[in-house]
Amino acid sequence: MEAVVYLIFTAIWWMTSLSALLPFVVLLILSKTFRDKWFSFVFSKVCGPLFGPRFASKRKQLFELLEEHLSKSKKSAPLKVLEIGIGAGANLQFYPENSNLTALDMNPSFIQHFNKNRKNYPQVNLDEIVVNYAEDMKDVPSDAFDVVVCTHVLCSVESMDSVMKEVKRVLKPGGKFIFMEHVRFPKTKASYLVQLFAAPLWKIYFNGCCLDRNTADFINKAGFTDVHCEVTYSPTLPLFFRPHISGIATK
Ligand SMILES: C[S@@+](CC[C@H](N)C(=O)[O-])C[C@H]1O[C@@H](n2cnc3c(N)ncnc32)[C@H](O)[C@@H]1O
Repeated sequence: MEAVVYLIFTAIWWMTSLSALLPFVVLLILSKTFRDKWFSFVFSKVCGPLFGPRFASKRKQLFELLEEHLSKSKKSAPLKVLEIGIGAGANLQFYPENSNLTALDMNPSFIQHFNKNRKNYPQVNLDEIVVNYAEDMKDVPSDAFDVVVCTHVLCSVESMDSVMKEVKRVLKPGGKFIFMEHVRFPKTKASYLVQLFAAPLWKIYFNGCCLDRNTADFINKAGFTDVHCEVTYSPTLPLFFRPHISGIATK
């Protein structure tokens, strides 16, 4: 029943996008600058306030998992951390004390939101902001980071294989990759059809975000020494991006 409601909603969304909203849709498709500005605005002003609190406990758990792994590997502060696709910095509040952060994002429009937000978290020392794609982090040195953080980013990258290769390159041996991503439903579920139907529109409106990715497969086959990955379906999240994976991988 829920899937049917979402299918109807998506059908209306398609019809509106192909009629009244068509000029807006065309602008989103044609202009990267417009897409970047639109997405940073919508994400910071609408999605963040609306869904941020629902992800807070997931983010907290992810960083607790990191602390657990770091204490096992006897790694102590200061920690060198690279966060890819940092956006406005929704994870900063959960960073361990005395973290030295390199923040990377391909969308320059997020920098103002990030700079405003980071003032609230003095336990994080900002080393550098890099505006670049995670697929090719040429300004980021190899074997340099204790931790790479990545939340709600792999859904939007052009090439997951390239990003995984880069993450492994920049991590120190034994370094940790922590991730939290929305993924697709199993293909046997009706909700997967909803995701497939909405995916092309979603990608246009949300700056390249794909609803139908099986991200865990890419992380599992990236060649980490071990990967812990949990799948959850939180009923408080809209069906479009309800299935989530989160976990930690070691280089
Ligand atoms: C949905 S937002 C998530 C922001 C933040 N990580 C969070 O958890 O709130 C996705 C972010 O990833 C960035 N992004 C998408 N594709 C990227 C890429 N290929 N390289 C670097 N950043 C990327 C976007 O610009 C955006 O800031």
